[in-house]
Amino acid sequence: MLPTVAWKDDRVVMVDQRKLPGREVYVELRTAREVARAIEKMVIRGAPAIGVAAAMGLALGVTKSRAKGSAALAAEFYRLCDTMAGTRPTAVNLFWAIDRMKGVFSAAARAGRSPAEIAGIVVAEARRIHDEDVACCRALGAHGAALLPDDGRVLTHCNAGALATGGYGTALGVIRAAVEGGKRIAVYADETRPFLQGSRLTAWELLRDGIDTTIVTDGMAGSLFSGGTIDAVVVGADRIAANGDVANKIGTYTVAVLAREHEVPFYVAAPTSTIDLATADGGGIPIEERNSREVTHVGTSRVAPEGAGVWNPAFDVTPHRFVAGIITERGICRPPYGESLAAACDRA
Ligand code: MRU
Repeated sequence: MLPTVAWKDDRVVMVDQRKLPGREVYVELRTAREVARAIEKMVIRGAPAIGVAAAMGLALGVTKSRAKGSAALAAEFYRLCDTMAGTRPTAVNLFWAIDRMKGVFSAAARAGRSPAEIAGIVVAEARRIHDEDVACCRALGAHGAALLPDDGRVLTHCNAGALATGGYGTALGVIRAAVEGGKRIAVYADETRPFLQGSRLTAWELLRDGIDTTIVTDGMAGSLFSGGTIDAVVVGADRIAANGDVANKIGTYTVAVLAREHEVPFYVAAPTSTIDLATADGGGIPIEERNSREVTHVGTSRVAPEGAGVWNPAFDVTPHRFVAGIITERGICRPPYGESLAAACDRA
């Protein structure tokens, strides 16, 4: 399994995803602020992976704290929660993980635990969040695999793989489970401009598993659909609103419209930690806008003229009417999503 992120001897270790596929470089982070910066700079990315990293970062913050006494430790912990929450606004797993860490911290503090005991408790919770995420990916993979044809050509967008989660992946977890179950799946990976998660990360990790992978640039997807080449689409999600609207990597909406036009099922795979029942619909999901340099440059090379305006939203929202099913660890949610998502979260 790919080592996306790990807790190791009071350090958080992660592969620097900005350097893949050219170089497999691991960074060791020793403070919560270093982890927050790694999330912001996309050393680690992908909604569930961001949640796991944030939890581990907060655990680091408590473990390494020099605060004198419980009150000072609490003040420092909540400041770090705010720092972590300020890194990336769209992936709800970040806020979900922070809330879980706040829950165990405050329960331990209320119970009068010592700072050393609290440190042990928050580290255990961060590791649990990691383990649970991998288990969710495996469970949703098994549910989703049944949806794919025995000989299936599947399009995916961005990277919703092991690298984007604690391990195994959501959309790629579905594909992995189908392949492990004996299905012959050929994957088409959208390049995913501007950060190239599809060509750099999805293709890299699928090829490591020996899964048939073809990269296309985002603008080529229409021709694939019109040529009858795609049997199903599976993507991940950064946040799913209560009505089933899905925020995911910019360009996902375009794929969903194409899938509808060509009568190809469009599935979203995500753990229930990505479902945000407090947000009624996609209009309420904050969409991160990133630095224009991601668009004007490829690596360090400028590929656009100076002076052109740039709009760089990192995510778009796919309305729920385009979504054939939302694959969670609790099973497959179908329309009406208002009911099926609430039921899945209730069981979670
Ligand atoms: O900007 P990123 O790379 O963090 O965006 C990632 C995505 O959009 C993924 O598809 C999503 O987080 C799901 S990951 C299982």
